Amino acid sequence: MTARMPATEPPADELQAARGQRRESAARTYSRRLPIALVGGEGVHVRDGAGRVYLDCLAGAGALALGHGHPAVVSALRAALDSGVPLTTLDLDTPLRDAFVETLFAVLPESLRGGRIQFCGPTGSDAVEAAVKLARTATGRSGAIAFGGAYHGMTQGALALSGAHAPKAPLGALGADVQHLPFPSAYRCPFGEGGERGADLCARALRWALTDTHSGILPPAAILVEPVQGEGGVHPAPASFARAVRRAAGDAGCVLIADEVQTGLGRTGALWGSDGIGLDPDVLVLSKAVGGGQPLAVIVYRAGLDTWEPGAHAGTFRGNQLALAAGAATIRHIVDHDLPARAATLGERLLDGLREQTAGLPVVGDVRGRGLMVGVELVDPRRCDADGVPRPDGGLAGAVQRAMLERGVLVEIGGREGAVVRFLPPLIIEAEHVDRIAETFGQAVWSAWRAT
Ligand SMILES: Cc1ncc(COP(=O)(O)O)c(C=O)c1O
Repeated sequence: MTARMPATEPPADELQAARGQRRESAARTYSRRLPIALVGGEGVHVRDGAGRVYLDCLAGAGALALGHGHPAVVSALRAALDSGVPLTTLDLDTPLRDAFVETLFAVLPESLRGGRIQFCGPTGSDAVEAAVKLARTATGRSGAIAFGGAYHGMTQGALALSGAHAPKAPLGALGADVQHLPFPSAYRCPFGEGGERGADLCARALRWALTDTHSGILPPAAILVEPVQGEGGVHPAPASFARAVRRAAGDAGCVLIADEVQTGLGRTGALWGSDGIGLDPDVLVLSKAVGGGQPLAVIVYRAGLDTWEPGAHAGTFRGNQLALAAGAATIRHIVDHDLPARAATLGERLLDGLREQTAGLPVVGDVRGRGLMVGVELVDPRRCDADGVPRPDGGLAGAVQRAMLERGVLVEIGGREGAVVRFLPPLIIEAEHVDRIAETFGQAVWSAWRAT
């Protein structure tokens, strides 16, 4: 009997989305909350099968720094295809690999320009694993310090380093020697203080952990930090805290790893999220934007750490020529067009717009961010924690996400209890788009709140 083949023409949008979801795993995420099937994308917009157009503040979870179908990326991809280069080449040398490495090193923080690069399996999680392995090899120590609220990925080691309980709870021990310490949050400060005082107390907790011989924490191989915690709900590390982390890591002889998978390449208003806050990492973990929307992940690190053996970190897909071409083109475009400055200006505009559109709404707890990495925490003002801060309201955030979808804007949800509506638009976004996002958000919050 001949198996019936699926229709070659895609069915109507809703049918297509529903069909995909019937077959896919219970672990799927975005498609549950955004039940649309995308068939096209241009600039900051995507289009579904029914012809509806959405302003895309998801942008592949920040991977599409130049948005959809950017001419610089498309022509780099075409040229790579036309060149006849083998499309996947492990870690063998190719002209595109060489060009990517040269382009990246030319724009790295000064302290890493004499460093080394390791290509990883093409996800942020794999690059985090590699960074920790590198630190353990170089220091001869085993442990790592990470921070509450961190997100470092979904492989078992990266998950062990992450803060959220939900994905860990069903798994039992993850077998990693990781300690989590408090990360500053002005709004929901772990010490109930907020501001510089809260950041200082977080820095003190870290110093204590590393210097008190009875802290219970053996000197670790690495400290991992995100310059802005993204999935944890958009918490920028204050500069005073970043400097303290740098000092503490140096004093304790551990490797400071900046996970810039999400903050890297202009997102925060600087080329690197660690720029300008004094983090000065020993290892930079990069993925998402660095591949120009194609799968690519690397770590770059100080040459002195390069003590591991051949094969210490490997993987099949470390030579994706299309990703190398798209990545190099993206890095060049971001630098040549000073997109970090654009992210800084438009990020401020977005913060102002979101605050203006939601002024006086008691369910809007906090509007925060750095550059075009912005979040709004929605709260239930009738329920407060011990410090008198209203509890996060994930139900309302979900309703706002749906209301924005209906109004043609795609946003992400993150943070504690999924109560932070996140904005990660492409860096090529225009002021008029930013204003529309803020306006739509205001309408969505009003309508979702009225419906509760
Ligand atoms: C800071 C950070 N690190 C690591 C990861 C994991 O990257 P991937 O999803 O490519 O494994 C992410 C993903 O969102 C991230 O934001």
